Amino acid sequence: MCGIFGCTSLREGVSRIIYDSLKKLEYRGYDSVGLATTYGGHIFVKKDQGRIEEVEGKLEISKLPGRCGIGHTRWATHGAPSKENAHPLTDCEGRIAVVHNGIIENYLELREKLASAGHKLRSRTDSEVIAHLAEEFLSRGLTIEEAVRHAALSLRGSYAFALISALHDDAIVCVRMESPLVIGISRDFVCCSSDVPALPPDVESVVIMNDGELAILTPQAVTIRDLGSGQQLPLKLLNKESIGGLVDKGGFAHYMIKEIREQPQVALNVISAPRAFILRLANELVKSDRVYLVGCGTSYHACIFGSYLLRLMADIDAHPVVASEFHDSCTRITPSTAVLAISQSGETADVLQVLRALQDKDVKLLALTNVMGSSITRLASLYVGLYAGPEMGVAATKTFIAQLLMLTRISIEAARIEGVNHDLTSSAERFLKSSAPLIEKAILVNELQTKDVAIDLASKTNAFFLARGINIVTALEGALKLKEISYIHAEGYPAGESKHGPIALVEEGYPCVFVCPRDETYNKIIGNIMEMKARGAFVVSCVEEGDKDVKEISDRTFVLPEIEPKQLTPVLHVIPLQLLAYYAALARGCDPDRPRNLAKSVTVT
Ligand code: G6P
Repeated sequence: MCGIFGCTSLREGVSRIIYDSLKKLEYRGYDSVGLATTYGGHIFVKKDQGRIEEVEGKLEISKLPGRCGIGHTRWATHGAPSKENAHPLTDCEGRIAVVHNGIIENYLELREKLASAGHKLRSRTDSEVIAHLAEEFLSRGLTIEEAVRHAALSLRGSYAFALISALHDDAIVCVRMESPLVIGISRDFVCCSSDVPALPPDVESVVIMNDGELAILTPQAVTIRDLGSGQQLPLKLLNKESIGGLVDKGGFAHYMIKEIREQPQVALNVISAPRAFILRLANELVKSDRVYLVGCGTSYHACIFGSYLLRLMADIDAHPVVASEFHDSCTRITPSTAVLAISQSGETADVLQVLRALQDKDVKLLALTNVMGSSITRLASLYVGLYAGPEMGVAATKTFIAQLLMLTRISIEAARIEGVNHDLTSSAERFLKSSAPLIEKAILVNELQTKDVAIDLASKTNAFFLARGINIVTALEGALKLKEISYIHAEGYPAGESKHGPIALVEEGYPCVFVCPRDETYNKIIGNIMEMKARGAFVVSCVEEGDKDVKEISDRTFVLPEIEPKQLTPVLHVIPLQLLAYYAALARGCDPDRPRNLAKSVTVT
């Protein structure tokens, strides 16, 4: 994780540009922040533990002098969150500074070698070795560019880093190897960034670096070289608008609530997304004997939903697998297997690892992602976008809805190709067409009610989210949302299974959230509610309009529009649970956009 940003400009005031972009990268980690600039043959560094605004308040990092600099916002992996481990990290003499995202796997070995060559390493990070390696190669007479190239060739692991040197007042050298890095070009400056939304507004064109490339940036020029050979490579410029716009909170208190409210628009985007690629992807799935849907976190929940729909609607043998558990022992890969990787960011290391391991095998690699140009789009032979727009809140919301709706579209196409389940596909298609106003209604009708229940929930330490059938996805996602941003321990569980263990925890006032559309599981789930009620549970239920039975036995209800087919009810029923998590986080004084220990884009395995 971590966010890196560098900028070299014709004008003074570069640290302000870096500071503003680091604020947009904070979703990638916020354990510490730091900035370094070159000025008058010296490097100036300011950094500390804490969030960017706190550190700015203490150190005024946005006021460092100079026209060239780098910045970092950290999600700690190697070394505790502290000032000493904050980036930028410097060499022995303080004449090289580096910011790094990713993991250097051989850092212990490198640290030892560098220490025995007389280098003084001051942090506990894996990243610091980069600065000392560059120092070492510079001392052997190499140019800065060659020194960095040789330093990078000594590293094993996944990384993107940017480096400045006191010898060059206007140059940044950066390298990408399995961690994201893009270059932005404007009239006055050139910058590098961990992602596109963090690029300043005046950037006009973008270069998406590939793994194994090194770039030298000055305000006037960008040169890309192959890391292995040092040979110059052609520059592929893209128009910034073509790969995603800029994001702000648009007057909302947090990105999370803004993104929840954007869900009706996201539904419109998904249903009007061009059909050609969806059809091609569906074709690949239909041709496969077996499909593995692979993802992490919320995207894994979308994998469960997608597998269920593909099996039910298109008779495809589809299975969800948590990316970090994708092993030979639990999967069977043959030439007619397809792997559909689902990732909002397209950069999640656990997912990329699965694709990289299968790259040379005879297997179809497909992807569903929200970020065009992300690593996943280069590893997959075919991918479909989610059209959700940039998502900044760490907790995924609108991209989950986009995943569910896009998987529905893919399943409809697959069923049509197979010529099966006409009634179900027509009904699913009707739902898609009306999904935007239905989602809008689900948000509006439940806003107050969820705020209210959140106040009750705020004083609790645990909660169960229970459902049956396809809505187990909803229960898992509701529990994940609540635990990740409000820190209330929450477990999503199949309601029928809850009597085999979890029920032991239930006592007076224990919150149990049930998801209860009127599908074939309805009567059974009433039984499960009664079991929990008999033990004193505080029952909150998601029900459809017109519901009487569940309402009667629940302490609180969230009411959702009634829809067909019932298999698509997770699209609506998850919405009050997103709102509940958001308001519970607020009621507990937590920052929903920046939950502790988490990051939006997890680029380590
Ligand atoms: C992190 C985030 C989760 C997200 C997961 C997968 O853990 O905190 O919110 O669901 O990564 O991310 P992806 O970008 O692959 O969907």
